[in-house]
Amino acid sequence: MDTTTRPVVIIRDDTASAASSAAKIVMDRIRARSDLVLGLATGRTQVPLYDHLVAAYRAGEVSFAHAVTFNLDEYAGLRRDDPSSFAAYMHQHLFDEVDIDPARVNLPDGAAADLDLEANRYEKAIETAGGVDLQLLGIGANGHIGFNEPGADPVSRTRPVSLSGSTRQANRDFFPDGRVPERAITMGIGTILDAAEIVLLATGPAKAAAVRQALQGPIGPDCPASFLRRHPRVSFVCDREAAAEISYH
Ligand code: F6R
Repeated sequence: MDTTTRPVVIIRDDTASAASSAAKIVMDRIRARSDLVLGLATGRTQVPLYDHLVAAYRAGEVSFAHAVTFNLDEYAGLRRDDPSSFAAYMHQHLFDEVDIDPARVNLPDGAAADLDLEANRYEKAIETAGGVDLQLLGIGANGHIGFNEPGADPVSRTRPVSLSGSTRQANRDFFPDGRVPERAITMGIGTILDAAEIVLLATGPAKAAAVRQALQGPIGPDCPASFLRRHPRVSFVCDREAAAEISYH
């Protein structure tokens, strides 16, 4: 039977204030526990969130020195130093700008010879770290979380996956030749749901339908983000555009 714990929904006027609200949750948690295990997402939505964290670090308001991070996903076949990799994104937007210890940063290795082995290694590394305390998420226009595309199993763990045509299209701009890898390695929905707390940031009109489906559609694999409603401590932080289709009654 599905449990339908209603997530906390925070709606802000614009993208900047939504990103700053999500960043504030991260900072509150890291101040409460300096060795926080933080799950990280990439993508356009997270850029202003990371900008806030970097600004707060520069202002001496937060330190990442003892934090441990695990990214959600990485493209298959890309080395960490490939400028289109999520590893490169993280260095550009966060890791190189704050006092995080490079030894405590974790991303799946998309260039691993055996992606199944790499996925198992990653799952074990999360477990060894004591699990994720706070997981940041974005949402795909098709409702994906991490790279768990529609159809994904709610108990799935970190594994290699195929990307949908729409996801590859949405991420074309990050590839100079327009050729987005067909596969990736991603934390599973089960892995994500094991985090103690989850914060999903959604901004812009392109996410409105997915946000509505996630919060008010049926819980099921057609919208992987809908499985988040099975989690006891999840917040959706949205700007007005992303929240535009939520109905109130
Ligand atoms: C990124 C990730 C994806 C993105 C989603 C939204 O690590 O796992 O689920 O969060 O595709 O991407 P943007 O923010 O670019 O719209």
